[in-house]
Parts: sequence; structure tokens; C-alpha cells
Amino acid sequence: MSRFSLRTSFPRTPNPLSQAAAERHARGLPLLDLAETNPTRVGLPSPEVDLGALPEPFRYTPEPFGLPTAREAVAAHLCQRGASVESAHVVLSASTSEAYGWLLKLLCDPGDNVLLPAPGYPLVDVLARLEGVHTRSYRLPAVHGFGLDAARVEAAVDARTRAVVVVNPGNPTGHFLHEGELHALADVCARHGQALVCDEVFSDFAWDEEEGRVTSVAGRSLPCLTFSLSGLSKVAGLPGLKLAWLHVGGPAHARDEALARLEDVADAALSVATPVQLALPALLAHAPRFQQALLERVRHNRERLIQARPADAAWDVVPSHGGWSAVLRIPHHPGEEATCLRLLEEGVRVQPGYFYDFGGGAYLVLSLLPTPEVFTAALVPLVRVLSPPPG
Ligand SMILES: Cc1ncc(COP(=O)(O)O)c(C=O)c1O
Repeated sequence: MSRFSLRTSFPRTPNPLSQAAAERHARGLPLLDLAETNPTRVGLPSPEVDLGALPEPFRYTPEPFGLPTAREAVAAHLCQRGASVESAHVVLSASTSEAYGWLLKLLCDPGDNVLLPAPGYPLVDVLARLEGVHTRSYRLPAVHGFGLDAARVEAAVDARTRAVVVVNPGNPTGHFLHEGELHALADVCARHGQALVCDEVFSDFAWDEEEGRVTSVAGRSLPCLTFSLSGLSKVAGLPGLKLAWLHVGGPAHARDEALARLEDVADAALSVATPVQLALPALLAHAPRFQQALLERVRHNRERLIQARPADAAWDVVPSHGGWSAVLRIPHHPGEEATCLRLLEEGVRVQPGYFYDFGGGAYLVLSLLPTPEVFTAALVPLVRVLSPPPG
């Protein structure tokens, strides 16, 4: 009998929602999918870049942190967004997920822990588990629109905490970190000797002009080691090209030691393909066109959602400022799963809040990426199912 590691023994039983969706699919019934977050499937613009026409795509130059030209392109991209960064502090990886894996290796020994926001996207939990690292949650208070409360972060710290992860803006909550929140958080990290890992994959997708918002920690003068993560997957809507980056910042001594160690980690993988690195300047030049089209899509879908809400509805659209999702607060009864199952019967898929560990209250999460036709069609059954039965 073969033996496998405990950390790969993930539960395999499909949850009632994926079971119900699979049954619908097997019966050939149509689905209006408001859980669709794949930017390549919703009619948004693709780059006009001929990947086959790149200069010397087959020449191999092993560079642990990526080709200098590609790192310079990322540094220029970050500088255009208002950061002041050097390409020497930029590291390329195949995905943000891979970058998280490298940071977990860099910062934690098995049994150490990192702090994660709740609610939040459930990816880092899995990545940490695969590195033998534990996670502890800090709650984002609903009363503050799921903003960050540094006191709650500090309360979650224990002797084995090595890093605090913050997602800016939150996924799916769409709250941007504010200057005051960032400084309080960096102060907690500095006092406890922890790194601040800032996931900024959605930070280009702000829906409004909000004062005091933080767009990036890259290039900021903060008292703790900082890592800012992003990549082509969200920035240019190209998850299939597999190129992401992280910027290392903070006090010079800690930053340089982190870079030296990361070089060994990245050298063991050398995972970013040459053609995508060669194409990076052109792909980043396409990003604004993609972002503009996406922002128009999510803004309009969000307006459609708000307009579809009856004035006396027992549900609300949670206020937020960016990202690709909308969060609805719904009545406790019948609750998240029963509502999602009813919606599936009506041919609409949305996600329940528990996928993201909302806690305290009932929530639904809707992707704002679907085409206007799909989104508008889905709103009719959504409003009907969320209306309380007459009498
Ligand atoms: C907040 C957040 N971080 C990271 C990722 C992963 O990004 P990548 O495709 O670069 O691995 C996702 C994917 O949806 C995400 O939502």
C-alpha cells in the first residue's frame, strides 16, 4: 500500500452546490454563471501580440529572477502606477500562487504560521498547507466595510507567526487598504519581526476615486520587510500566460537578505518561460485597454444590480470600491446554501459567503465579469428568489 502525505489529503466529496451544478450540466440545462471569474471567457479584449514572432524565443538564458528586460518592464509598470521601484528588487514567477509558495518557503519553517484575512479568497490556506505552514485568521470587521483593524491582526499573532497577508483590495470584499490601516499594520509587523505580504492582484481595478487609498506597498518606506504581489493573470487578464511578479521592499538589510535567499528558491525552479518574458513589454502595454474594458463591465453590472434591488428588499449590496465581485448581504433565513440551491434550480449560479469565510451573517458573492446579457438575465431570478414569499 503506497503512503501519501497528510497535507495532500484534501476532502474530495463535492459540496451540495457543485453536485447540483454538475447534475444540471449532465441534464443539459442552461446556466447563467455569476461565479465566472475567468477573464478570457467573458468577451474582454485580448492583446494583439504575435507570440510566434518574438526574437529568439528558443534561446535559453537561465535567470533565477527572470530576464533583466522583463524585470525592467515590471519596474516601469509599477513606476507608472506611482511607485518608485528598482528592477533589482523585482522577482518574476509563473503565478502569484507560485510567488506565495516561495515566500512561505522563505519565511516559514514547517509548523510556523501566517495570518490571513477573513473573509478572503481561500487560496493561501491551501498553499500554506502544502508547505507545512499553518494559518491563523484575523477578522475584517463588517461594520467597517471589511476594512482592516490592526488590533485584530495583532491579537491573532503568536510566537510562531512569521508573516501577515493582506489582500488589497480584498477579494471578494473590494475594500482598499487605507493609509492609516497600512501604517498601523506595518507597525504591528515591525514590532513582532514579521513580514507584510501584500497581494495586489486587483489593485488596478478601483471603481471610484477614494481618498487615502493605498494602491501598492511597492517602493514605500515601511519599517518591516514587505512583498507586493501581482501578475498578468489579473493585470492584463491573461492567467494562461503564467507570469507574475513580486517586489521586495522594507529596511535594506532585511530586503537584501530576502532577495539573496529568494534567488536560491527561484533558481531551484527557473519556472518562467522565455517567450512570455520576451513578450512582457507588449503584454503590459495592452493592460490599460483590458483594464478599461473590464472596469466598464464591472461598473455597469454593479449599477444593474443596484437598480434591480427593490426599495423594500431584505438584502443589500455591500458597499465596496473595487475588484471583480459584488457581495450581497442576505437574510439569515433560509441562508446561504439554501438560497444558492434555489438559484441553481432557476438556472443561476452564485457563490455562498462561506466559500470565503464571511462568518457572522449570510452573504452571496457574485462575479461582475459576465457579459451584460448574462448578468441582466440572471438578475430577474435573483431578485425573485431573494424576495420574501408574500404574506
Ligand atoms: C486575491 C488573489 N490572489 C492571487 C490569485 C492567484 O493569481 P495567479 O493566477 O497569479 O496565481 C488570485 C486568483 O484568483 C486571487 O484572487
